[in-house]
Amino acid sequence: MNSKIITIDGPSGVGKGTLAKNLSDELDWIVLDSGSLYRMVGYLSLKNDTKDFSEIRKIINKEEISFKFLSKNSNISLFLGEDDLSEFIRNEEVAKLASEFAVIPEVREYLFKIQRAFLDKGKGLIADGRDMGTILFPEAKYKFFITASAEERARRRENQLKESGLSVNMRNLQERIEERDKKDSSREISPLVPAEDAVVIDSSNIGIYELKDKVLNLIRS
Ligand code: DC
Repeated sequence: MNSKIITIDGPSGVGKGTLAKNLSDELDWIVLDSGSLYRMVGYLSLKNDTKDFSEIRKIINKEEISFKFLSKNSNISLFLGEDDLSEFIRNEEVAKLASEFAVIPEVREYLFKIQRAFLDKGKGLIADGRDMGTILFPEAKYKFFITASAEERARRRENQLKESGLSVNMRNLQERIEERDKKDSSREISPLVPAEDAVVIDSSNIGIYELKDKVLNLIRS
């Protein structure tokens, strides 16, 4: 068992990203935001008008992938080489494409290697995703699976989008979230399910700092 890995799995909008950042601030471990990598594939598909993954892979291979927190309160940013992709990957169009590419074995195998390489990049790793505790880092000592109601998640996503100056239809948002969840949970390859040894936490009614404290207490005990 590796005591230098924390895995945080669960669907979008449950607070995984904020939890990962808060834990990273506390522990000074690096964060791997695996959803961003699938979103990057979706974004590059859109930008280059291709669904051919071998084309997309060529573009990714030319550059180094890194994650940064640009300021104390900012969300995690994904860099491909010098380019900050963050503002291009956080929209529903790219999310839908990400979900489509995520069912392709070749894509998952390619991203598997990229993600495993993050183990050597910091003194500890906080891995945020869908299959971190099951497929990517089964040896992790600390595994968490975060859930929240679809309604609460749509509300959080709505706030995030509003903060970025985008307007949204709450009903549509909730429907799309539920649709994407269904697809992610029922797919054959790496479905979204908790690892057998994961602690499942419902974050619907707890604040972000309370969630972090809960997780830290569990780790320390
Ligand atoms: O967490 P997110 O919304 O940024 O993830 C975007 C998409 O990527 C999501 O629909 C499922 C997919 N994904 C995945 O299949 N496996 C992961 N480890 C992370 C994300």
